[in-house]
Amino acid sequence: MRNLSSYLRVLAFAGIALLGIEYLIQTEEGKWAIIENPYAGVFLGIVILFAIAIEVSIASLKNILYYTMDEAARERYDAQQAEKSKRFVKLKERLQKMMTRSKPVEEEHEIVLDHNYDGIRELDNKLPPWWLYGFYLTILFAAIYLVRFHVFDDYTQKEEYEQEVAEAKAAIEEYKKNNKDLIDLESVQFVTNEDDLSAGKQVYTANCVACHKADGGGGIGPNLTDKHWILGGGIKNVYKTISKGGRSGKGMVAWENQLSAEEMQQVASYVLTLQGTEPAQPKEPQGEKTWELERDEQGNIIKEEG
Ligand code: HEC
Repeated sequence: MRNLSSYLRVLAFAGIALLGIEYLIQTEEGKWAIIENPYAGVFLGIVILFAIAIEVSIASLKNILYYTMDEAARERYDAQQAEKSKRFVKLKERLQKMMTRSKPVEEEHEIVLDHNYDGIRELDNKLPPWWLYGFYLTILFAAIYLVRFHVFDDYTQKEEYEQEVAEAKAAIEEYKKNNKDLIDLESVQFVTNEDDLSAGKQVYTANCVACHKADGGGGIGPNLTDKHWILGGGIKNVYKTISKGGRSGKGMVAWENQLSAEEMQQVASYVLTLQGTEPAQPKEPQGEKTWELERDEQGNIIKEEG
């Protein structure tokens, strides 16, 4: 198999197999089954190997037949092959002519212009059709573009940009939602929606009340409802305290092995909302640092990221 058509046949086989694979195996939109699914790749490889094997076998079969032919048959066969390739060459020439409309070198004297600069002369060639029609296409494109965007004011570049940014943001949100454990010290946020806060409350009730009391008033651990913090307030500090623990020997362990990143974000946010509530038996304020939760006039939490 050493001629163009056998290569093309193998390619065509591979292409059909690829289309079949993509059609039959379900994947998420925009993804290739051939990349996502390892078996699809193996299958495609086998198909290609088979196609090559078939081509090779046919070629060697032809070879054997050729050598078993007698002299006369062989000559006839060669002549036939030569005829075929001559036809191919002619076709190629005709195609080339159609694409360029150039004059063959022997006829160039017909189109040479009558000026001559130091022996450099100019041929008055026809514009090559591939170029000419390409040029017409650009004119057509420009006309449609002009009418669509400057006469009928279809979307502007700014709108296009904004839409793409919005789509990208939505995709990021979606990704974050599906990959909750991406939350870390850098990206942790004060989440104030009800679902997250009630989930945070559950985590708190299950793990923290022994030392901080159900109302956050404090016991073994410090009061979580006042503005004073030993280790620093705000979502980042509190998240850090919960995930990495307090000062050693004080009793506040690192929770990062027991709780998921999302749970720690939820419970940290819940802890922040305790501020300003009035526990039954508040422990006296501890800590030099102060941090205060901001609320608007209605008492709603103003989301704070720091
Ligand atoms: C075994 C008791 C104990 C448990 C259980 C416990 N803590 Fe603590 N917590 C402490 C102690 C003690 C400190 C003070 C640490 C220090 O001084 O370094 C503390 C400190 C903290 C602080 C920092 C307070 C400040 O003033 O900086 C936060 C926030 C906190 N805990 C939240 C939690 C959360 C949320 C849980 C549950 C997931 C929890 N704790 C469970 C004992 C505990």
